Amino acid sequence: MNQEPLFTLAYKAMQQAYSPYSNFPVGAAIQTDRGNFYTGCNVENAAYPEGTCAEAGAIAAMVLAGERNIKDIYVVGKGEHLVSPCGGCRQRIREFSSADTRVHICGPEGVRKILTLHELLPFSFGPEHL
Ligand code: THU
Repeated sequence: MNQEPLFTLAYKAMQQAYSPYSNFPVGAAIQTDRGNFYTGCNVENAAYPEGTCAEAGAIAAMVLAGERNIKDIYVVGKGEHLVSPCGGCRQRIREFSSADTRVHICGPEGVRKILTLHELLPFSFGPEHL
């Protein structure tokens, strides 16, 4: 298994997921510009739309700790396809990102693809537009 610390943190977060409806656990781990780590997992709900994504949980933990700047975010899920952040999570990441914030999309074996937030969400709307 890939031993990058952020990958390992995201993988451990995935193991804590509550995903009885999709049976698709996801974990996320953030490294901030200060070098600190925050993790999250998806938390589903019997009222399906109320479920939250792993990225949202990691961002909430980061904000709770008083931090605002995502340098790297790792997202881990199973299956053969890329577990690319959903549209809503791209915008959530955008709020706390710079153009060179990197999104590391991982499978259980390690990193599969690294994209900048700008590549995932070009021409995006952010705090500086207000
Ligand atoms: N999910 C995430 O947590 N993050 C992603 O990037 C993709 C999807 C979750 C939401 C839902 O609980 C499950 O995966 C299936 O969509």
